[in-house]
Amino acid sequence: MRNSRIRASVQSLHAYVPGEQPGGDRPFIKLNTNENPYPPSPKVGEALRGLDADILRLYPPPSVDALRARIASMHDCGIENVFAGNGSDEVLALCTRAFVENDGSIGYFEPSYSLYPVLAAIRDTRTQPVALGPGFTWQDPPLEGSGLFFLTNPNAPTGMVFPSEAIEAFCAAFKGVVLIDEAYVDFAERDCMALAHRYDNVLVSRTLSKSYSLAGLRVGYCVGAAPLIEALMKLKDSYNLDRVAQTLALAALEDVDYMRENVALIKAQRDRLGQALAGMGFAVFPSQANFIWTQPPAVIPAPDYVATLRERGILIRYFPKSDLAAYVRITIGTPGEMAALVKATEAILERAG
Ligand SMILES: Cc1ncc(COP(=O)(O)O)c(C=O)c1O
Repeated sequence: MRNSRIRASVQSLHAYVPGEQPGGDRPFIKLNTNENPYPPSPKVGEALRGLDADILRLYPPPSVDALRARIASMHDCGIENVFAGNGSDEVLALCTRAFVENDGSIGYFEPSYSLYPVLAAIRDTRTQPVALGPGFTWQDPPLEGSGLFFLTNPNAPTGMVFPSEAIEAFCAAFKGVVLIDEAYVDFAERDCMALAHRYDNVLVSRTLSKSYSLAGLRVGYCVGAAPLIEALMKLKDSYNLDRVAQTLALAALEDVDYMRENVALIKAQRDRLGQALAGMGFAVFPSQANFIWTQPPAVIPAPDYVATLRERGILIRYFPKSDLAAYVRITIGTPGEMAALVKATEAILERAG
């Protein structure tokens, strides 16, 4: 029903649909939202226990200097080149406000992160989606027409990386701002951070949600030219990162070795699962992320596979959109979780075949 008090664009908005976070007592193996199966660094736990509730009387540092300085030192740049946000989702949302005129447009690949069109709709701007080539491969986007292009690398939900030369050539020629969304880059063989240093129209965003096991903390950041960062700083909530988030994020970033150990475990499981699925007749796309994008064999169409796994207590991600409806996305879990997934899949195939 229409409600004249609510803006027309909000009434017609289809909000982003996150993966299921099951409540209740039933234990699920959760392979549907690309969370990390391992706990955050012990240093995060220590920092959490060391927090005195009394400090919460005071507003947090508004410009997030200590955390931004740590990030700047990790990426060999100045603090003026770093923006820290409430998850990288906040960074992405602020980019739509900072770099796109009201009559402008936002570009992104299809498929990629399904939040981008929702952010454009929230911002009430047009979109210029660019269909990927066969097998979800790179296509040159138009160089004009959009003020902002979201470029996900490794891409989601495919997990595939795009050729570095193509990305750089696009960044060099594109008229607007390119936000390279590197949410999954710690699981990949290469990254694009150098482009944020080399080009004044490129931002590279990262998150602590995946490789650092801190999806619940909500901390992300981006690196880029000072004028772009300054624009984001002007638009953010004064206190966009609370005191707990600032303190624990800093603790996590002081233990990069721990993150790298977990990433190595996850990559090993990813390669093992890819082989197991391929051996069972799945089409497996080459992933450099903490998930696998795959097409189940014809005997178990993707929606049936997802539903049957759910009955067996395993959640994976399904995108019902027509061009993605034949595929599923499986987050990499612990060896035990992967063994359970493979066992369930064998049983489902046996019953179907
Ligand atoms: C491509 C991509 N970018 C950004 C995000 C959001 O990350 P954050 O938890 O930092 O908001 C996700 C989360 O799933 C993602 O898949």
